[in-house]
Amino acid sequence: ARKIIIDTDPGQDDALAILLALASPELEVVGITAVAGNVPLALTEKNARKICELAGRPETRVYAGASQPLMRKLVTAEHVHGRTGLDGPDLPEPQMKLQPGHAADFIVETIMREEAGSITLCPIGPLTNIAQALIRTPEIAPRIREIVLMGGGFFEGGNITPAAEFNIYVDPEAAKIVFASGIPVVVMPLDVTHRALTRADRIDRFRAMGTKVGDACVALLEFFERFDEEKYGSDGGPLHDPNVIAYLLKPKLYSGRYCNVEVETQSELTLGMTVIDWWGVTDRPKNALVMRDVDHDGFFELLAERIGKL
Ligand code: BDR
Ligand code: CA
Repeated sequence: ARKIIIDTDPGQDDALAILLALASPELEVVGITAVAGNVPLALTEKNARKICELAGRPETRVYAGASQPLMRKLVTAEHVHGRTGLDGPDLPEPQMKLQPGHAADFIVETIMREEAGSITLCPIGPLTNIAQALIRTPEIAPRIREIVLMGGGFFEGGNITPAAEFNIYVDPEAAKIVFASGIPVVVMPLDVTHRALTRADRIDRFRAMGTKVGDACVALLEFFERFDEEKYGSDGGPLHDPNVIAYLLKPKLYSGRYCNVEVETQSELTLGMTVIDWWGVTDRPKNALVMRDVDHDGFFELLAERIGKL
């Protein structure tokens, strides 16, 4: 199985990403690292443990990492995810323990211990923990197989400011470090995730499972989609983060292009903007495989098929 570390700020869509990964035998989740993002760290690390227990996998190692971005004050997204970050279902307080030590140290130690080229990082929150690991031990970079992240928006615009997507905006300096690291990066931006909408018929698939996990997913998704439905009148909400895991399982669901991506860290107007050289008009190095489209029916099929097994 392919070894992955999920770096996350749950988040209802993060929760679905974690469930998809835990349900998939092709993947070995060697650890889950929590970061401050959608809500503060004390909630994201607890939410990550709740989801592992929901999946029946309390042995999963969960670590807490950064409580603040590298250089800025934390911006959160309770307006989307609710006060707990995981509003919707009534999940019990987790019994499983948080692992001792900082998430960035766990990332470093795992990458240095495991065979070079064997660990894939899956960041689905702000990139603070990943950047901290790279700052602490730059030698990890050439040993990382790939980073598949959810973040950025190119042709689609931003979702936290007109220019920026939330994960990149919260810690643009961290994102800059990741894109400059030389590690192979695959990006699932808003351009992809805004096509993966939680329509009623798709939520019904989870209801039809008749399982505890299925019911929890219904509650998570119904809470999550109300923000976009109320604000934009859209048919469902964009299910961002599970696209990262789905890409590892079925890369053919996605199409994109190798490009240069740079992150804006100075401008007040466009802070956290991801600037893509889609047409190759500069000779800056191609540092990312940026996805632009998804087979969204195939994506939801995969999600329901796998999560139905939990
Ligand atoms: C990203 O921001 C968070 O609110 C979601 O969990 C996702 O990772 C989308 O912009
Ligand atoms: Ca997230």
